Amino acid sequence: MPTRARRHPSRPARSSARSRKPAALALPAESESLWIATAPGPRYPRLAGDLAVDVAVVGAGITGLTAATLLKRAGLRVAVIEGARVAQGVTGYTTAHLTEVVDCSFSTLLSHFGEDGARAAVRSTRAALDRIAALVAEGGIDCGFRRLPGFYYSETKEGASGVEEEAEAARKIGLAARLVKEVPLPFSVARAFRLDDQAEFHPRRYLLPLAAALPGAGSHVFEDTRVTDVEDGDPCRVVTESGTVSARAVFTATHVPLTRVAVQTKVAHYRSYVLAARLEGAPPDGLFWDNEDPYHYVRGAEGLLVFGGEDHKVGQEEDTVSRYQSVLAWGRERFPLRSIEYRWSAQVAEPVDGLPYIGRAGGSRHVYMATGYSGTGLTFGTLAAMIVSDAILGRANEVAALYDAGRVKPLASAREYVSENVDFPARFVADRLKGAEVPGLEALEPGQGALTEVDGKRVAAYRAPDGQLTLLSATCTHLGCIVQFNEAERSWDCPCHGSRFDTAGEVVNGPAVRPLPKLG
Ligand code: FES
Repeated sequence: MPTRARRHPSRPARSSARSRKPAALALPAESESLWIATAPGPRYPRLAGDLAVDVAVVGAGITGLTAATLLKRAGLRVAVIEGARVAQGVTGYTTAHLTEVVDCSFSTLLSHFGEDGARAAVRSTRAALDRIAALVAEGGIDCGFRRLPGFYYSETKEGASGVEEEAEAARKIGLAARLVKEVPLPFSVARAFRLDDQAEFHPRRYLLPLAAALPGAGSHVFEDTRVTDVEDGDPCRVVTESGTVSARAVFTATHVPLTRVAVQTKVAHYRSYVLAARLEGAPPDGLFWDNEDPYHYVRGAEGLLVFGGEDHKVGQEEDTVSRYQSVLAWGRERFPLRSIEYRWSAQVAEPVDGLPYIGRAGGSRHVYMATGYSGTGLTFGTLAAMIVSDAILGRANEVAALYDAGRVKPLASAREYVSENVDFPARFVADRLKGAEVPGLEALEPGQGALTEVDGKRVAAYRAPDGQLTLLSATCTHLGCIVQFNEAERSWDCPCHGSRFDTAGEVVNGPAVRPLPKLG
């Protein structure tokens, strides 16, 4: 989904789609990912007792499953340890951008990493797409993988120059970006560039067969096994609630590393809102993203139009339902929508300098991590699996240094680091001073969550549709910020580093690893 509006230097200011007229089409009552709904998966066992393997992989999304596949194929015994269900975490709620284009502007990439670094970056993302294509072909995986063009466009004359600048920067770093005026969309655009040979697939129809091929010959897949600690050593130890896995190397493929606070603060977390709609006619053939602010993306999947955007920082939007409504209003103005079949939102981790952090976790010898994929997690997750599996196998990888998790930040990204992480100290203090959002528990409606005070304590209170009340500590178990209720997803979201908890307090997204304590 290149490129995120807030990073583009030449994108014109434009009023938010939220100011447009409301749509009449109904949004689904519940958030449900198209990918999960259309590709159910089998159950895997919970870890029961202690185990020794060559490599422990924490997390069964695209990163962990791809790494485990590559390592098992190299002859190692691998244990994949998933806290919930396989391919049902961040990967299951993906916006499904499968492209070699990175999720910051090409000019940003050039200025942060130079021409050689930027060229290496897009070579590496192309290699990731090729790796997916190879795994699909070798395994005969029926996931709808195919190549198709991508289009970056502006609907306005003012935005056209930004598209032209990006096309020029893309060509400079080795991408065959062609400026065009026509795109296969049912509305006119002022300017676009086209990149051939991007791709699409159904992410779970791709990953479930990879997971199914892992168990056996000393390798395992575990679900419902929450990791509480990762210890570096000879061997390393992965501590879970139901046993400990010893391994000579550990890959924390968990979107955000579990125990590395220094890296956790180098990424900023956003929610992106996605709808899948049935159209009058077929969806357009291609991947599309605009350069508006807020920006939008479009593609087809399962005969539906998938479109979204309206990103905001996690825990910093009080009216999350309005974001879906804005996406719907945007789509309704441009496409003949018949019905909205699915709605879901995705979690996006933004690095401060435009590229993910992949490699050995700071200060450790055998623990590896990957985070900061931005909006192109399917591509970067695959690339991270390639880099980390090469490192564990002692193989050279030409881009390992480029993505090094401990790399020194250029000056420009240091400024972004400060601006993205000002939230932590600011929210840590300010949210403690805010008053109760509802005067008392009796004021909570069914389906509503709010912060309130009980016996002088800050409490996260939720009343289920059946009237049942759940009281949780409102203090995030990561570093202590105050969580906020997300009405659209019915979750408690932390504005500081993106942790999310369900209404029972269980962790949905890290970096938090412990649930919100129940009160009362
Ligand atoms: Fe860091 Fe909540 S995610 S304090």
